[in-house]
Amino acid sequence: MAAKIDKEDLKDEAALQLDANGDLRHLLTLKGVDKALLIDILDDAERYLTAPGSLPARSQGLAGRTIANLFFEPSTRTRASFDLAGKRSGADVLNLDVNTSSRKKGESILDTIYTLEAMQVDVMVVRDASAGVPAYIVRHVLDHISILNAGEADVSHPTQGLLDLLTIRQHKGSFENLKVAIVGDIRHSRVAMSASQGLTTLGVGELRLVSPPALAPDPEAVPGAVIVDNLDDGLAGADVVMALRIQRERIGNLDGVPGIDEYFANYGISRKRLKIASPDVIIMHPGPMNRGIEIESVLADGPRSVITQQVTNGVAVRMAVLDRVSRTMAAR
Ligand code: CP
Repeated sequence: MAAKIDKEDLKDEAALQLDANGDLRHLLTLKGVDKALLIDILDDAERYLTAPGSLPARSQGLAGRTIANLFFEPSTRTRASFDLAGKRSGADVLNLDVNTSSRKKGESILDTIYTLEAMQVDVMVVRDASAGVPAYIVRHVLDHISILNAGEADVSHPTQGLLDLLTIRQHKGSFENLKVAIVGDIRHSRVAMSASQGLTTLGVGELRLVSPPALAPDPEAVPGAVIVDNLDDGLAGADVVMALRIQRERIGNLDGVPGIDEYFANYGISRKRLKIASPDVIIMHPGPMNRGIEIESVLADGPRSVITQQVTNGVAVRMAVLDRVSRTMAAR
């Protein structure tokens, strides 16, 4: 059963996620998260990275806590990394199989939440196709529970934004002089929204959002970004290029949306098209990738690609966020 989301649930998310001291109680959005807090989270995440081939970092920061992963939309990376992040932080982790859960029998999302609350779950990680669901849950759960947004419609995907920021910082050091191009279906992309919010807060030099006109964002949703419909204009001198897939599951009417071949010819990131980018450009993709559509396959696996590093960073960022909300939880 779909949740009844009030417009109020979409407002004030930024304030709702912080306690009176400005510490993170929930993570709903990167909008309104200030630079100092963003940098603190990225610094914390770096401490959870270990050298490839060595054992992964572990902590006992969430020992005794219980995390429930509630993914009401498909996921590979986010769900697996929240699962690993919870276990590597010492928590008990429950991965609810939505397809065999009582939501399939018509149970409301709130009844599902209240059921888990009664089982003493401390952190709920939520992905849902409806805008406003994470904040709606925050407004209804017991005060000690933390809600983490793991992907909210086309609105936001804050932990993805954090792992993208961390990956860029690892390669480029600072943000002020960077030209970042995000290329693809910007209009329907929660990844583009969260990355844009975080990059803007960190003072990125230039943020270009590149898409066919039919997939361009509402300019009011991305203040500070330059909206571009020509790929060469987007890629010229770019230090960072992030390719996005077309989110066909969110597009009701495909009128004006290019077909596969036309899309790759005009917006696909390929070695040939990248010749005008900075010589040390890095290539990012949040996944899942459609090779040969938004990105040339050989480029995704090539030396400029940081796509698998994004995945590695995803676990570290989620450990950092879990640790932060559990510390706030312990203080209340
Ligand atoms: N980037 C991302 O959210 O991937 P998943 O849909 O596999 O979680």
